[in-house]
Amino acid sequence: MHLERIRFQSYKDKVISAQEAANFLKDKMVVGTSGFTKAGDSKAVLPAFAKKAEFENVAITLITGASLGHNTDANLAKNNALYKRMPFQADSSLRNKINEGEVLFIDQHLSETAELLENKHLPKLDFAILEATYVDEQGNIIPTTSVGNSATFAHLADKIIIEINISMPLNFKGLHDVFMHEKYPNRDVVNIKSTYDRIGVDYITIDPKKVVGIVFTELPDSAALVCAPDKKTTAIADHLLAFFENEIEVGRLTKSLMPLQVGIGKVANAVMSGFSRGSFENLVMYSEVLQDSTFELFDSGKMDFASASSITVSEACYKQVLKNFDQYKDKMVLRPQNISNSAEVIRRLGIIAINTAIEFDIYGNVNSTHISGTKMMNGIGGSGDFARNSFLSIFVTQSASKEFNAISHVVPMVPHIDHTEHDVDILVTEQGLADLRGLAPRERVKVIIQNCAHPDYKEELTDYYNRACLGGGQTPHLLEEAFSFYTRFAKTGSMIQKKAIELSN
Ligand code: COA
Repeated sequence: MHLERIRFQSYKDKVISAQEAANFLKDKMVVGTSGFTKAGDSKAVLPAFAKKAEFENVAITLITGASLGHNTDANLAKNNALYKRMPFQADSSLRNKINEGEVLFIDQHLSETAELLENKHLPKLDFAILEATYVDEQGNIIPTTSVGNSATFAHLADKIIIEINISMPLNFKGLHDVFMHEKYPNRDVVNIKSTYDRIGVDYITIDPKKVVGIVFTELPDSAALVCAPDKKTTAIADHLLAFFENEIEVGRLTKSLMPLQVGIGKVANAVMSGFSRGSFENLVMYSEVLQDSTFELFDSGKMDFASASSITVSEACYKQVLKNFDQYKDKMVLRPQNISNSAEVIRRLGIIAINTAIEFDIYGNVNSTHISGTKMMNGIGGSGDFARNSFLSIFVTQSASKEFNAISHVVPMVPHIDHTEHDVDILVTEQGLADLRGLAPRERVKVIIQNCAHPDYKEELTDYYNRACLGGGQTPHLLEEAFSFYTRFAKTGSMIQKKAIELSN
């Protein structure tokens, strides 16, 4: 046992097994656990609870930072151990249960969960389960690879279980900046004026009276899936990088751009990697997740500093970062997710936000979450926090997908809107980039179809718009046809009109 990681004397006799800890969790409890996009999650107690649910009828409301690693969400879902889940997930088994109506899911802006809990708009937390590097002399914990909502969970939960992960390096101390808001109505400003600013403490405060157990683990975080850039993602990255180069040329941006937020996914990673090729320098990030590309940019000398709520990287990058942690430590800070995603800070710093869409419509409304308007994919994550408040709000996606381009990602009207036309400045597909700044809806349509739609769909989208214009309006639509791409896809397996005509003949 690594008792040197418990530096608070009265916790030393609280060490229990994961199974014993899981037995504290009862049916209908509300549980908050650490974990943000697979980083710093509960690797012992939640999995043990999932196992227990194989044999017992127990289901909890589970609140996390974001998605979990180690198939924990999948195992909880398969064993019916979840009654309600929030604020984000990215697991196919859980996704199926959500879409079958067997698990209730609240898809929440990632900055909001802590606020809702603090303001008592969500039920009281029975338990917090928090991964830690170690417990300090006062009984507080040093988090691991994420902060997420852990400080709020520790503050509000009736009882706390700490998971000390002995694979996390002790020199993580100093990586985190944990700031808690004052209570309404006496809330002060979040005093972050640059990405580098630290405004809190480097530990999570724990009330020792709440701690009912300490569990040791040594599992590393689950690895992020990093896809090598392909033709499409490279084309998207190239359009975006050319746009930035031009903004520098015309004097709207400098070579340092503005602090960057980059969402999850293969396109985002390709764009970030592309920054190492251009004339950019002294870049900084104010984001929610640090990915492989962040460390590549540190190594190439292009990036000076990065602020986020978690480090979620591939296995190779994880090993390299942990091994050489001292080399990176001064270049990073991890914050609670209501601070990394704070509207106030995002607006003040002037963030360039780059997120991935499932699809967008001819006016620039973006759907990030629902397939065909009904089925949950992952959730909105932090994309809304950033898109609404950013200096530049950019969404990227492929123009079409599946065999024979059966699915168009540019449609007449999106059947679910996460980011309205008011929050979207730039859209990019492998076909090109639509700069929507200063354009009215009728001007946007032309640029979006021309620059972003796949050639197989341009004619039909243009025809739809032209006929819609006959009826007039600020945002012309033909309501009886607005979702025809989806109904056609459901009937024929393709959104392409010609395919439907061929099939009906
Ligand atoms: N009908 C059926 N399937 C559809 C569809 C439709 N109308 N529209 C899209 N799809 C399918 C695509 O064909 C693709 O399927 P495939 O993987 O079998 O090719 C899939 O949906 C899109 O998923 P994927 O290629 O896995 O997309 P991605 O990895 O680029 O991720 C998001 C895109 C939007 C799902 C992801 O970025 C996300 O969850 N975003 C929201 C959260 C967020 O933005 N967080 C940012 C802060 S970190």
